[in-house]
Amino acid sequence: MRRIAHATLPDFIVQQFQRGGDYHHRQLYRIVKDGILRAALPAGSRLPPTRELAQTLGIARNTIVQVYEQLALEGLLQAGVGRGTYVANLAPAFAEPPAPTPVQRRGTPLSRRGRAIVGGARASAVQWGAFAPGVPELRMFPGAVWSRLQARAWREVAAPQLSYATGAGHPLLRAAIAEHLQGTRGMACSAEQVLVTSGAQQALHLIAHLLADPGDAVWLEDPGYWGARSAFRMAGLQLQPVALDGEGLAPTPQQLQAPPRLMFTSPSHQYPSGVLMGHGRRRQLLDYAAAHRVWIVEDDYDSEFRFASRPLPALQGLDAHGRVIYLGTFSKTMFPALRLAYLVLPPDLIDSFARALSELFREGQTLQQITLAQFMRQGHYVSHIRRMRQVYGERRRVLIDEIARRLGGAVSVLGSDAGLHLVLGLPRGADDETIARQALTRGVLTRPLSLYSLRPDPAPGLVLGYGAVTEEEIRHSFGLLAEVIEPLRR
Ligand SMILES: Cc1ncc(COP(=O)(O)O)c(C=O)c1O
Repeated sequence: MRRIAHATLPDFIVQQFQRGGDYHHRQLYRIVKDGILRAALPAGSRLPPTRELAQTLGIARNTIVQVYEQLALEGLLQAGVGRGTYVANLAPAFAEPPAPTPVQRRGTPLSRRGRAIVGGARASAVQWGAFAPGVPELRMFPGAVWSRLQARAWREVAAPQLSYATGAGHPLLRAAIAEHLQGTRGMACSAEQVLVTSGAQQALHLIAHLLADPGDAVWLEDPGYWGARSAFRMAGLQLQPVALDGEGLAPTPQQLQAPPRLMFTSPSHQYPSGVLMGHGRRRQLLDYAAAHRVWIVEDDYDSEFRFASRPLPALQGLDAHGRVIYLGTFSKTMFPALRLAYLVLPPDLIDSFARALSELFREGQTLQQITLAQFMRQGHYVSHIRRMRQVYGERRRVLIDEIARRLGGAVSVLGSDAGLHLVLGLPRGADDETIARQALTRGVLTRPLSLYSLRPDPAPGLVLGYGAVTEEEIRHSFGLLAEVIEPLRR
């Protein structure tokens, strides 16, 4: 290779380099990289030794070493021990890209499926503040304990734990989850039945892809959890809304005539209406599922937070025929950004689910899983839940008092005494989407109940999360919301 002396390079760099600020690394990297790509620093040019350039620019030598290393990794520089650093002979792939030819805009580049995903999106851009539904009180999370346990996991880390994880989750966490569920949810399960996933949403995608084919029917509670709806829709399933009554999911006689492949339900605290599924309905659905080989997906997302009574045992614990797929999440009891959830599967499904999890998602998060397992084993999990149950119970009471004080009988409060949210039922004919939009202009976040429904004429209401809202914030923000709703009374 033709070698070019570096005498002119410092000038080239110095002219563009500006001292000060914290951006030396990024600046130098940009200058040299642009110079190479525009051929202002031709192939074969020798870069100044790091010590010399550091002196010329008056910055740390280490910064220059890092920039050279980064560019060498990208194939733009070549370094040889004792021979200096040279601009590499660039392969055509690195040549300046051709100027883009103007293309006519032809609408969205998304596929039909892509448009359905984006168009049907329900996740709110704001996930904090009054009254964001489903968000726990993150200011009270015992972060110091967590960071101590996490530091310990890192101190004791073995290299394979940083590789791709395979299998159904870390054994310590699977065992801790099984033990917790046996003790608190009346469940009959072993650690071998537990599959750890990255959030409930991932678990729903697995279920939809492994247990149903495109075109198969799935029963969904209506109103119901839009996250499940999206996962099933994206897997090509046929969504069939099933109405609720005071006992929960209530299929009509006509619907019972045509068994679906899957049914999705949240029996301990129906989302979002809050109905608690009664014992009779539980038995009826389990018998039906056994007789028609239907899978019941039991979403038990927030049952730990039941205020007046003990949580009802899970449906899974009553299932004698292995038809229930139990879904739990740490998003409410810990924090949503943790992205850890789990399935409890009938024993003959676990291997297939574990293999599919690796195949579709390449799971990891091993150190997070170990940290969480220790958090549970050392009793922090149960004490955090106990403490938060009191806090949420109190906040719920304050919100209900405010609703009664400000709006009286004009509205209703739906659902049982549990969870992190409630539904404010609005008078028939009210336009909940407009009310939610108006509330948002006053800084109050609510979700219209109608968005949770697939039926043409859904009952109007507002889903209000109180988990992450202090009592003062509840009083203040509900005051603002009441001003929007007030005119409905006249
Ligand atoms: C009904 C319901 N199920 C499950 C979840 C948990 O989802 P994830 O584990 O993906 O955070 C939520 C979260 O909002 C929920 O509302």
